[in-house]
Amino acid sequence: MTFQQQIQQGIPATLPAAKSYPADANRAPKRKDILTKAEKQLAVRNALRYFPAAWHGELAVEFARELNDFGRIYMYRFKPEYAIKARPIADYPAKCQQAAAIMLMIDNNLDNAVAQHPEELITYGGNGAVFQNWAQYRLTMKYLSEMAEDQTLHMYSGHPMGLFPSSLEAPRVVVTNGMMIPNYSKPDDWERFNALGVTQYGQMTAGSFMYIGPQGIVHGTTITVMNAFRKVLPKGQSPKGKIFLTAGLGGMSGAQPKAGNIANCITVCAEVNPKAATKRHQQGWVDELIDNMPSLIARVKQAQAGEEVVSIAYIGNVVEVWEAFAEHDIFVHLGSDQTSLHNPWSGGYYPVGISYDEANRLIREEPELFRAKVQDTLKRHAAIVNKHTAKGTYFFDYGNAFLLEASRAGGDVMAQNGIDFKYPSYVQDILGPMCFDYGFGPFRWVCASGKPEDLDKTDAIAAEVLKRLMLEAPEEIQQQMQDNITWILDAKQNKLVVGSQARILYADAQGRAEIAAAFNDAIKRGEIGPVVLGRDHHDVSGTDSPFRETSNIYDGSRFTADMAIHNVIGDSFRGATWVSIHNGGGVGWGEVMNGGFGMLLDGSLEAERRLKSMLFFDVNNGIARRSWARNNEADFAIRREMARTPKLQVTLANRVDDEILNQLEF
Ligand SMILES: NC(=O)c1ccc[n+]([C@@H]2O[C@H](COP(=O)([O-])OP(=O)(O)OC[C@H]3O[C@@H](n4cnc5c(N)ncnc54)[C@H](O)[C@@H]3O)[C@@H](O)[C@H]2O)c1
Repeated sequence: MTFQQQIQQGIPATLPAAKSYPADANRAPKRKDILTKAEKQLAVRNALRYFPAAWHGELAVEFARELNDFGRIYMYRFKPEYAIKARPIADYPAKCQQAAAIMLMIDNNLDNAVAQHPEELITYGGNGAVFQNWAQYRLTMKYLSEMAEDQTLHMYSGHPMGLFPSSLEAPRVVVTNGMMIPNYSKPDDWERFNALGVTQYGQMTAGSFMYIGPQGIVHGTTITVMNAFRKVLPKGQSPKGKIFLTAGLGGMSGAQPKAGNIANCITVCAEVNPKAATKRHQQGWVDELIDNMPSLIARVKQAQAGEEVVSIAYIGNVVEVWEAFAEHDIFVHLGSDQTSLHNPWSGGYYPVGISYDEANRLIREEPELFRAKVQDTLKRHAAIVNKHTAKGTYFFDYGNAFLLEASRAGGDVMAQNGIDFKYPSYVQDILGPMCFDYGFGPFRWVCASGKPEDLDKTDAIAAEVLKRLMLEAPEEIQQQMQDNITWILDAKQNKLVVGSQARILYADAQGRAEIAAAFNDAIKRGEIGPVVLGRDHHDVSGTDSPFRETSNIYDGSRFTADMAIHNVIGDSFRGATWVSIHNGGGVGWGEVMNGGFGMLLDGSLEAERRLKSMLFFDVNNGIARRSWARNNEADFAIRREMARTPKLQVTLANRVDDEILNQLEF
């Protein structure tokens, strides 16, 4: 059967043979055994509804075994035989181009070269799922292959509920992931309902098919590290020979050493999992591997003395590094952490003092003891970071819930007011005021032809547009524009493409729309094939996340999620090809709402109209909210936008004199 025929058949007519996992697969960790016996029966009953009754006897036993062995029912025997990867858009069997574009993006998110645990349909972050099981993948691809231009596929946490009649203007797919009744949105609820097969954690771009491999995070991390050094060093001083100490060499965190090299510093990145550290070393993402403390201390002192630009992976616990650096008086300029603290009890954060294997045993067999050890480590971690910051280290939370979990564990991380943390998040100090409040965020595109030469042409178009806009850009945003022009000019030689022919850069509303319009013109002229636009959810408007994307909102509204909801609804009727809204993503289930979109550019006039309308709203929704929260940079940006766009009228915040408030008696 051809690849196209396999897609068109959906659930196969005859039961495929059971299969075993490849020996070299990077398997997802076994999930918590949380269901009661009755709930396990319900999980198997739920799984069997995808299949004819004649198969139930055989599949029930197999699914029960999967549930016992892995804590989830992945339906592994239904994984298709063809290689899953982004193919040229014309290869997909589809009645409409928009549906084919979505198929391409789904396959990219499950590509072995892109996804973290492809056998379990996990793209990144340990639990960021595209689908819960292989039946959902098969059915979704089949629906997309049959979809007409006036139908919409509604997807509930990976489950394709069905194709519904809609209109040409409607999105082709509407995705929700992990949406829960708020009182049932705690980590154990997720484990339970995910195990039952009725919800999933879509992370940000995994469950919305917009992950493009590590390039996105390399760009974001580079921008963050460069701007953090600008913040702490005297103007014009180079980061050479200065230390950036952090942890994690996993899916996203693995970008840190590469970004550190681009930013010209010494990066020391601890990683407890030797496999993850070795993989990053082999890929060339980190320069050196060191597995013992005396060698690390000697190497770091040498690098400081020689003002080297180098990245070093230490195989071990990050707390040991912080403690040893204090003991040996090694000054850390920048400190952070990218362990997976959004997932602290199932292997996101490893306790100090026990081996990696022993920690994994505790997760499975003694979860309460594991939890206690994680909490002790978090307290110790916070204490040693405090010791360094007392000497002048600049520490920031890297959006992984470090400060949140350290505070919950009783670590000394709270500010004197007992409400805020001692340390800023990277959004509060860096990305918020320097990027998001001006509308700069992670705009991305994929060349659907799959041709590298199309990507080269789009790089050149984007650079040209940014250079032109920079000539007239106000002083406030010149630095961001220059950083992104440099980035796009170097992008090809930095060899960042993994999977689809994709690119990312940060641009504001005007930049995004003008780049997209120039792509659409190039498609119309036949110079390039169709292009899929999208963005990371880690952006100006898409995400309400009080300790990350919206951590620099100070009017009390950072615990609300109206912005993300307005974004996804607003994008959906302004021309998005697909929209998604997720509970959870990045910092964890119940901690964030984030929305995203995808849009196919095909060179048509409709595409031009859609991109202008949707990209404008997609950015300015968030700027309006940020300006209402009294963020000065957003106030500047929205006033500038209103001057350009007469139909935009935003409610502006009046400022109150502190004296008036100080005199009030309560
Ligand atoms: N700031 C951002 O822009 C941003 C972007 C993406 C992800 N994140 C967050 O960063 C975190 C990491 O994401 P990821 O995709 O790399 O996750 P990951 O699970 O793939 O990697 C985390 C790594 O940390 C290692 N680790 C855990 N505890 C450790 C310890 N005590 N010492 C040393 N190493 C330890 C793990 O072995 C793992 O390899 C997540 O919480 C994610 O949400 C932040």
